[in-house]
Amino acid sequence: TGPDTGSPTGEPTGAPQAAMAQTGAFLTSAQGVRLRDTDHSLKAGPRGPVLLQDFHLREKVMHFDHERIPERVVHARGAAAHGVFRSYGTASNVTRAAFLAEGAETPVFVRFSTVLGSRGSADTVRDTRGFATKFYTTEGVYDLVGNNIPVFFIQDGIKFPDVIHAGKPHPDREIPQAQSAHDTFWDFVSLHTEATHHTLWNMSDRGIPRSFRMMEGFGVHTFRLVNAEGATTLVKFHWKPKLGVHSLTWEEAQMISGVDPDFHRRDLADAIEAGAYPQWELGIQVFPDTPEQMFEGIDLLDPTKIVPEELAPVQPVGLMELNRNPSNYFAETEQVAFHTGHLVPGIDITDDPLLAARLFSYLDTQITRLAGPNFAQIPINRPHAPINDMLRDGWHQDAVHRGVAPYKPNSLDGGCPFHAGASEGAYVEVPLEVSGRKVREAPASYADHFSQARLFWLSMSAPEREHIIDAYTFELGKCYEQAIKERQLRVLANIDPVLCREVAQGLGLPEPAPSEPLADPAPSPALS
Ligand code: HEM
Repeated sequence: TGPDTGSPTGEPTGAPQAAMAQTGAFLTSAQGVRLRDTDHSLKAGPRGPVLLQDFHLREKVMHFDHERIPERVVHARGAAAHGVFRSYGTASNVTRAAFLAEGAETPVFVRFSTVLGSRGSADTVRDTRGFATKFYTTEGVYDLVGNNIPVFFIQDGIKFPDVIHAGKPHPDREIPQAQSAHDTFWDFVSLHTEATHHTLWNMSDRGIPRSFRMMEGFGVHTFRLVNAEGATTLVKFHWKPKLGVHSLTWEEAQMISGVDPDFHRRDLADAIEAGAYPQWELGIQVFPDTPEQMFEGIDLLDPTKIVPEELAPVQPVGLMELNRNPSNYFAETEQVAFHTGHLVPGIDITDDPLLAARLFSYLDTQITRLAGPNFAQIPINRPHAPINDMLRDGWHQDAVHRGVAPYKPNSLDGGCPFHAGASEGAYVEVPLEVSGRKVREAPASYADHFSQARLFWLSMSAPEREHIIDAYTFELGKCYEQAIKERQLRVLANIDPVLCREVAQGLGLPEPAPSEPLADPAPSPALS
């Protein structure tokens, strides 16, 4: 079939080509017709009506009218940079992935983001940060789509629309723009206590990073690595910043939101421009791939749980350096499309039910956001590996495919691409046995919502605890509904009595007893 999906970018790190744009010395229309004037509409006399026949006016305004694409449904605000990942080779005993082999150098593109705010929101709000890395490996694109917090609000992806509906601005007033200080957020997390651990990280200093350059990144889920012999290992991915982990104080974060809402993206771009290239070490926590998929009593498929580094140290496997700013925000930062299903040989998924929904969601949302199914052809998304697919046509098809037989088997275009030996180096799923009753229920191990939150709280220093108390008090103080504040205090009582008491005092509310059961949600009023 010999498809030609367009030449690779030609540049080593995924920078878009100058395709079509700005190739001539004169201003032209989109059709290449040289223009004499782009400042005045064609009119019947200098003070006369504008003429409909003005094709330049029509084209210019038409194109402007369609310049915006939908922002991401989450993680809308972000900043990105190009760089390189250099592998130490220390992971090659557990994975056959070529980019993790010794000495491999792989171009990367990394996008950092907030979760809840819209594209124009401020950088230093209290929120989780996205940390998404696209590796342009010789075996195809691998995306590690992580966050700066190692756990998540929910254990099952079917709840994602719920947590995001609760976290986004109220549907009536469209406030607040970018943070969790509101009734719907606290309503949800106080009723849905599996969110307790993630929420506590948000209320800690981790919720207000000093800089993207000073954030950790986490793959959150447990992944399955496969080595050259086919042996499997379970791992969690960690990015550790060479500059260390640093946060703002809440006062600084609030002030900067006003003084420089672009603080984080400016900091990243300025640092790279000045040659102070930020670096992160990629590391893995390694666990045996047992049938239970548990480690020291911790369910590795539960994304609300960490495995403490004391139990499984993070082992460094490579170093990433970001060394080049995007040259066009829209072409690169806005149009990049990450997906947890962009996997390469040697890396497979696990049955974490949060990951399952993500494997569907990213491609699905990008069909809308990037208008059709051909977004892998956008320069920033193109693999740096040869492509030979049988995908055809569709909106924004840029490739001019050769041949007449994009199907298999065929006898017309020189057979099919699956000739003998072609499967060497191919992606092969781990052939795990799958069985079970079809049910909608969580395993018993998912029922513990508080012990790791308590562990986190107890690991904090005195000033860090003060910051957490202040954060809960400030954020809950913005709620209008008294019942929601009281319910959240009962959640805090289940983490730690001091935390609960201090926040209750700050809110001017009585301290609930820890044994007080968490209230069930009141039945929703019937809609008339
Ligand atoms: C976007 C991380 C859970 C749906 C993102 C981005 C990151 C991220 C970093 C921004 C990517 C970029 O910069 O372009 C995570 C993490 C999760 C998680 C670490 C949990 C461990 C989920 C779940 C769903 C989901 C459960 C859906 C069921 C989306 C969607 C986008 C997104 C729709 C927008 C993608 C786009 O428009 O290109 N996520 N996410 N995420 N996430 Fe997640």
